[in-house]
Amino acid sequence: MSGLAVLGATGSIGRSTLDVAGRHPDRYPVVALAAHRDVETMLDLCRRHGPRLAAMADADAARELERRLAVEGLKTEVAAGPAGLEAVATHPEAAQVMAAIVGAAGLPPALAAVRAGKRLLLANKEALVVAGRLFMEEVGRAGVTVLPIDSEHNAIYQCLPPGSGSLEAKGVSRILLTASGGPFRTWPVERLARVTPEEACAHPNWNMGRKISVDSATLMNKGLEVIEAHWLFGAEPDRIHVVVHPQSIVHSLVQYVDGSVLAQMGNPDMRTPIAHALAWPERIDAGVAPLDLFDVGRLDFEAPDLKRFPCLGLAFRAVREGGTAPAVLNAANEVAVAAFLNRRIGFLDIPRVIEGVMEAMPAAPVASLEQLLAVDAEARRRAEAQVKALEDRA
Ligand SMILES: NC(=O)c1ccc[n+]([C@@H]2O[C@H](COP(=O)([O-])OP(=O)(O)OC[C@H]3O[C@@H](n4cnc5c(N)ncnc54)[C@H](OP(=O)(O)O)[C@@H]3O)[C@@H](O)[C@H]2O)c1
Repeated sequence: MSGLAVLGATGSIGRSTLDVAGRHPDRYPVVALAAHRDVETMLDLCRRHGPRLAAMADADAARELERRLAVEGLKTEVAAGPAGLEAVATHPEAAQVMAAIVGAAGLPPALAAVRAGKRLLLANKEALVVAGRLFMEEVGRAGVTVLPIDSEHNAIYQCLPPGSGSLEAKGVSRILLTASGGPFRTWPVERLARVTPEEACAHPNWNMGRKISVDSATLMNKGLEVIEAHWLFGAEPDRIHVVVHPQSIVHSLVQYVDGSVLAQMGNPDMRTPIAHALAWPERIDAGVAPLDLFDVGRLDFEAPDLKRFPCLGLAFRAVREGGTAPAVLNAANEVAVAAFLNRRIGFLDIPRVIEGVMEAMPAAPVASLEQLLAVDAEARRRAEAQVKALEDRA
């Protein structure tokens, strides 16, 4: 069994995953794909990769996909809704599952893949932000391998010694998480109030989906990654340091007690971490141009500006408070980012909405997944109410 299933197949990470897998079709046959409602892209992926199963979370989209596949005489079976996503995540012919749905919506199918004993390639950082402790407990119970796809966490994974010991036992003093600083690192602060969705989505180094692009512009993406690193590597928040590195060549670093600092470098192309995770512990060609250090010329590093980017501070606050706080942060952020993308609120309103919801919903201990999903829903309701209030005031 060597099959590959991809959740979020039509997105930026999903398509990059299929690009890498398509370079090694005998090694990684594509057996199942899932997306939300982009029928056109899914149809194209079915033509090219011939999966046994394709699921659309949206029932109308699933019906439309089924119709279009039949017209073309393609044999892919179609499934719909949460059960369809789960069928992809647990497909019997899949050895590994790429979890690349955006947002908390990716949590249930990623968990299903873990429970089914699949090796998990985890791009969906929000799953760990919402339910980090429960998620890692399930990973431990199922005894599965989780390979991080976020370029920073993949870099850290590559710089750490193998094995399950604590960071202390491995001699790690700090994790240095690099951040490009996004498109607004050097913009005058007064200009940030008038930032448009197009400007926020024009990342200087990476070509990504719209939600993560806005998260990169607010530095919330780095905040979510701090929480992700906390759970993936068992790193206390004080051991995780964010370093702004505008060139995005050093993808993160691990500092050891003997003074050594190990870094992983490469061109900013997500196919590198994807290929690393697909083939681990071996290496395969990713289709990525080799890094030319003479072309790069220089590498710069600076401290993040928490005044300009309050979202990073809010994420550190959430991980320090623990319990339900990261789930609240994540839900409020998803609502605020969607409202910004729909031009309902301004760029600087994003941290205002998140902080308001965090103030209203103090951290509580985590008891169960059901409780976390209820907290997620409540935080979304409150965030939506704040968005509405900001709209009415404008
Ligand atoms: N892009 C990157 O470079 C990058 C790097 C590191 C980590 N990540 C993480 O990877 C994840 C995906 O990012 P992306 O940039 O690839 O996002 P994206 O381009 O927006 O793609 C999102 C994917 O998720 C699917 N989706 C959205 N909502 C869904 C739902 N409710 N049910 C089922 N599927 C749903 C979309 O399907 P439709 O197309 O049908 O809507 C699409 O396939 C995010 O968690 C992000 O933080 C991304």
